[in-house]
Amino acid sequence: MEVLVVGGGGREHAICYALKKNKDITKIYCAPGNGGISDIAECLPDIKATDLDGILEFVKAHPGISMTVVAPDDPLALGLVDLLNENGFRAFGPTKDAAQIEASKVFSKNLMKKYGIPTADYQVFDDARSAKEYLKTAEYPIVVKADGLALGKGVIICKDKKEATKAVNEIMLDHKFGKSGNQIVIEEFLTGYEVSVLAFCDGKTILPMVTSQDHKRALDNDQGLNTGGMGAFSPSQRFGETEMKKAYNDIFLPTLGALCSEGITFKGVLYFGLMVSDKGVKVLEYNARFGDPETQAVLVRLENDLYDIFNKVIDQKLSQVKLKWKDRTSICVIIASGGYPEAYEKGYEIEFGDIDDDCVVFHSGTVKKDGKYYTNGGRVLGVTCMGKNLAEAREKAYANVKKISFKDMHYRTDIGVK
Ligand code: AMP
Ligand code: GLY
Repeated sequence: MEVLVVGGGGREHAICYALKKNKDITKIYCAPGNGGISDIAECLPDIKATDLDGILEFVKAHPGISMTVVAPDDPLALGLVDLLNENGFRAFGPTKDAAQIEASKVFSKNLMKKYGIPTADYQVFDDARSAKEYLKTAEYPIVVKADGLALGKGVIICKDKKEATKAVNEIMLDHKFGKSGNQIVIEEFLTGYEVSVLAFCDGKTILPMVTSQDHKRALDNDQGLNTGGMGAFSPSQRFGETEMKKAYNDIFLPTLGALCSEGITFKGVLYFGLMVSDKGVKVLEYNARFGDPETQAVLVRLENDLYDIFNKVIDQKLSQVKLKWKDRTSICVIIASGGYPEAYEKGYEIEFGDIDDDCVVFHSGTVKKDGKYYTNGGRVLGVTCMGKNLAEAREKAYANVKKISFKDMHYRTDIGVK
């Protein structure tokens, strides 16, 4: 059987890598894929992840494909899973109505409020004038969020009224994120530490994976701009089993219950971005998909057959699955193009030294030409290693990061330090 994976980043490379372990899968296609993915899958560079019709046509023309895995947020929000299902094809990922939990912050905040799921206090605004009126008496710092998808850039933490006013103007008047900014959420600034929990969900059962922690800022010590994620490790060193159990009862199950009560069957991966403080655990955000780079750190620890889990999710038989994990600590260090998340150059040749056998380099933004790999995106590679503890995993990952080189490469040196 054959599988089509939609997307072309490090997350999709990790998904292909995990699927590859199933010996019944004879071929993986990846649309569009990237240089590293092309070593284990047939990439379809002309089919973008948001080309819904192109993907449907490809699946129709390749009857060997038994499942399409939709990994990125945009095609999920556009309804790719709905389109494939309507045409009789199996697909892993939430439908458009279920993907709203990520694609609309207004939707997710209202859902949490209605069902008593702990989250930051907030207000929703449809116009800049009333938002700015509210900012006059608000407490600072405060967080301004565009309602819709914004490539991870739609959340702005503002230390005072001046910054918040600028954020509102950019989102609502300058339309920096297009229609995603037609509504905004202004919410309370939470403090504490962050943890990500990805969970498989079939609409009836929710099965959390091991915890992980992302590093969103571009520079060491959480300085610089927000990025898609500069590294991750798993498990969280602070969020243990007790915290997980409590979060399961107070957040994960209630979220599933809330979706069911709204008539939404969520099948796919539900991602909980959590903030943990002395006052308890609160939801910062939901994503309707695997996170990047958390997926790279989490999936290398998975012992189950990922294809089997995907099938169980689609068939709503997830209650039959017991997840098994390597009792190891994993870490993924992202190597980015110099300048990312702002302007950067592409097309530099990447030199790989002698990478350790037990270390996987997931490609995020690369292309392969005549047997050589070139940079082709902001985030370029994710060097992923495991160890008996975080210190050992870190040491191994950075030893391998140092074997890789390309012009102007940039990485954080403190992934997994805090
Ligand atoms: P989001 O896309 O909503 O997860 O936001 C991106 C990042 O912004 C989060 O991972 C947090 O680091 C930060 N953030 C979002 N909302 C808040 C909040 N209410 N308080 C503090 N930090 C936040
Ligand atoms: N790493 C955060 C995300 O995938 O949204």
